[in-house]
Amino acid sequence: MRIVSGIQPTSQLHIGNYLGAIKQWIPLQEKNECVFFIADLHALTVPYDPKKIQNSIKETVVAYIAAGLNPEKAIIFVQSQVKEHTELCWLFNTICPIGELQRMTQYKDKSKKFKENINAGLLDYPVLQAADVLIYKGEGVPVGKDQEQHIELMRSLAKKFNQKFGQTFKEPASLILKEGSKIMSLQDPKRKMSKSDEPKSCIFLFDSPEDIQKKVSSAQTDSGKDIIYNITKKPGISNLLTIYSLLNNKPIKKIEEDFKGKSYAEFKKSLAEIIINYLEPFRRKQKELLTREVYVQEILKKGQSRAQTIAQETMKEVKDKMGLTG
Ligand code: TRP
Repeated sequence: MRIVSGIQPTSQLHIGNYLGAIKQWIPLQEKNECVFFIADLHALTVPYDPKKIQNSIKETVVAYIAAGLNPEKAIIFVQSQVKEHTELCWLFNTICPIGELQRMTQYKDKSKKFKENINAGLLDYPVLQAADVLIYKGEGVPVGKDQEQHIELMRSLAKKFNQKFGQTFKEPASLILKEGSKIMSLQDPKRKMSKSDEPKSCIFLFDSPEDIQKKVSSAQTDSGKDIIYNITKKPGISNLLTIYSLLNNKPIKKIEEDFKGKSYAEFKKSLAEIIINYLEPFRRKQKELLTREVYVQEILKKGQSRAQTIAQETMKEVKDKMGLTG
């Protein structure tokens, strides 16, 4: 199966991003043809700094490889370097009803948040996303739950195109993660872990062991002293138990048993150790990759060329079907 997914160039990945998405991509690489790109064109739809974006792109690539994406298997590249994405986006624009774009939750949220900059790109965002996947005739799209609506639009555009111009695209399925992978803020366990919150609330993949220790020990806990999973009564401890369980591959029930009668402090100490050990190889790999700029550039160049080969083929078929070849 061909898997396609995009990642916005936001270099600072945290364990919420990792457990909520990237961790699932790693095993997908083994048995599928995976296309993973840095969605730099999507990142332009909200305010950004042109001087910094190249650096964010590079750091994001490094972060993903450090976290386990395998450039020997997956096709890894930068979206803006394969121009067929935008070309197909334009063609899809001509069959996409505006109403469908206006009702997208992400569009509504972002146009509220960036009132000064409600640009056409923000509205068109899901059409480019559809082109991103369909240009490779993607069949599976591993994304977070917030992207479900965008994948639905992708399916509806594929269907519409097929009806109008003849069978061309498969309707891609979203591969959404199982429950339990939503990691909450360490300071406010009722909110999702987010890098725009205060730094203490968020454990980044490349945090130093000292920082991890500090962040875990200052994580908000709940009244009482038992280490038990209860989302409503003990959201803080439940979130920490989820992280513990996902990183240590142990069922929550077993962790509860292990810590029966023990204090929050003991539990946190053990959790900090688990996080530090889990992230240690990521940190090492990242350090190494940051000194190998040429190697990273080569990965992107090879990815661009592999992606282009597939994209150009699809584009040719689409143009033929739409009557654009003379
Ligand atoms: N919109 C996605 C996000 O914010 C990123 C993205 C861009 C994407 N193009 C894509 C995801 C294509 C999957 C497929 O997470």
